Amino acid sequence: MVIDPPSIESSGLDVSELDVSELDISSLDISSLSDSPLQQLHSPFLEQANVQLFVKRDDLMHPQFGGNKWRKLKYNLLYAKQHQFDTLLTFGGAWSNHIYATAAAGKHFGFKTIGIIRGEKHTPPSATLSFAESCGMQLNYINRTEYRQKHEAQFLQKLKKQYGDVYIIPEGGSNPLAIKGCQEIIDEISQKLNTPFDVICCASGTGATLAGITSKIHSDQYAIGFSALKGGKFLEQEVSQFLPIKATIKNWRIEDNYHFGGYAKVDDTLIQFIKDFRDQYGIMLDAVYTGKMFFGLFQLIAQGHFEKHSTIVALHSGGLQGNAGYKL
Ligand SMILES: Cc1ncc(COP(=O)(O)O)c(C=O)c1O
Repeated sequence: MVIDPPSIESSGLDVSELDVSELDISSLDISSLSDSPLQQLHSPFLEQANVQLFVKRDDLMHPQFGGNKWRKLKYNLLYAKQHQFDTLLTFGGAWSNHIYATAAAGKHFGFKTIGIIRGEKHTPPSATLSFAESCGMQLNYINRTEYRQKHEAQFLQKLKKQYGDVYIIPEGGSNPLAIKGCQEIIDEISQKLNTPFDVICCASGTGATLAGITSKIHSDQYAIGFSALKGGKFLEQEVSQFLPIKATIKNWRIEDNYHFGGYAKVDDTLIQFIKDFRDQYGIMLDAVYTGKMFFGLFQLIAQGHFEKHSTIVALHSGGLQGNAGYKL
């Protein structure tokens, strides 16, 4: 199974200068999607390591479009609604969490959806794409060369000519409105903890989630993005682009030792870890993102990387639908 990672880029719409405070939160009924639980994990391993570990359960926000997908879609959908777009167009591969979530959220909130899919059509389609179709998403397969133009203005114009006045969300959902949505993760955690956490961890693919998180933490807190990609150090540049220039302290980093050979690659050790984690803590992880993050985090904890009595929060960013592509 060849799966390419998503990339962060601009969308067909320039939202960088947007005043998001003008977005009317009541234009969509999102009341049931406003928060997620913060769950503390207990085990002899964590006790011995003398750290407190909490999981921000964004995977529980919605069965089909929860996780960081909802964080990224939230303000994009509000924007689309308020600007009278009735169709969302976005990009992804055959197993894309973002395609899956956009199709489901589009159906839920009454948008038509179009998915521009990388590569040829397969019969039968992946479980992700057949779900997207069942939600009413119109799929258009394009070859990989054409797909690489997905951020180019000319190509986006061509799509608009073809499909009409659609609201274009970039691959992975990662744009400035997505970052605004991810910032809310920190607000919610802070409201739930009596004392501030020391470290927050998330899985990183484009770096947008980490950018949202990092832009909201205090200078004495630290954020780690566990790269799901091989050679993920380049993500530090992507994340920096979204941070205020005035930030002088670099209280975050990309951890790139736990990619398991590359994007969507797995081995028996990772699969076993995910199964053991499920058995011990009752939480299912995905193999592409959160499984690798927790594996890496547990390794760092075991190595004594964190100070004693540290409070660590790990974001469960969802992605469980992708497990259908693995033996999980
Ligand atoms: C489940 C899941 N977790 C984490 C990520 C990584 O998030 P980001 O692309 O914002 O770095 C993704 C991809 O967007 C994802 O689907």
